[in-house]
Amino acid sequence: MIVSTAASAGLARKVASLLGDRFVEAIRKRFPDGELYVRIPEVDKEIVVVGSTHQPNDNWVELLLLVDAATRIADDVKVVVPYYGYGRQDRIFLPGEPVSAGVFARALPVDVFATVEPHFVRDYGVFNLYGKEIHSLSAAELIGEYLRERGVDVVVSPDEGARRFASLVNEVVGAELHVFHKERDRVTGRIRMEGEEVEEDVVAIVDDIIGSGGTMLLASERIRARKLLFVAVHGVFSPGWERLKERGEVIVTDTIQREESEVSVAPVVAEWLRST
Ligand code: R5P
Repeated sequence: MIVSTAASAGLARKVASLLGDRFVEAIRKRFPDGELYVRIPEVDKEIVVVGSTHQPNDNWVELLLLVDAATRIADDVKVVVPYYGYGRQDRIFLPGEPVSAGVFARALPVDVFATVEPHFVRDYGVFNLYGKEIHSLSAAELIGEYLRERGVDVVVSPDEGARRFASLVNEVVGAELHVFHKERDRVTGRIRMEGEEVEEDVVAIVDDIIGSGGTMLLASERIRARKLLFVAVHGVFSPGWERLKERGEVIVTDTIQREESEVSVAPVVAEWLRST
């Protein structure tokens, strides 16, 4: 059976339907002091827990509690964290910082879990990190299929970090690939972008995350297109992201459920569950 955090119920239901499994709604309530209570109301031998951790603080807590509950009533517990919050602080950039991605991986009471396009591993397969076996799943093929249908002429990676993802997307689209160069000032957070300008009919900028939209917006300044698509796996959407809508169309997956979730990652999650 499949259970999920409240925020990931839509995706979890789709995964359950692809696998022919039961989706069971967890019971949750909030105590007056703000603490969260969860309970899985049915038992099974094997339980899959799906929980994206955005917004990160509340959703990490809910996920940790659900996984703990599952391990107490099932023989086998599989965990999928479609969007891994705190994954961008995966190393120490400035002295005195924590490695937040590791803090939460270690806190999960299982040895193995899967996540989709994690920012801390821009590659796919199995990685031993933070004392856990982490399966990194790709959304590139699903996004590529969607963009091929949309008749995209050029795929743009806004920085070197997204190059691998963009190039896998582009393999499916069969278009041209352009890679820009981005630099971020770690103290002020300001970014600078360089790269040859792009002029084409339909252009898609692809990245793992849309946060404030700053990265996509800077990339769009170097592009002239009739139709511009801002495409990311995770629609984190922090304040400011809506500026993108004035310049083009925003498309994300359902690792975080949004109005703009045009692509579902349910097939890759279901495939992982089938194969493990
Ligand atoms: C950064 O390295 C990531 O891959 C994204 O480019 C970044 O998180 C996007 O954030 P924002 O939308 O705030 O520029």
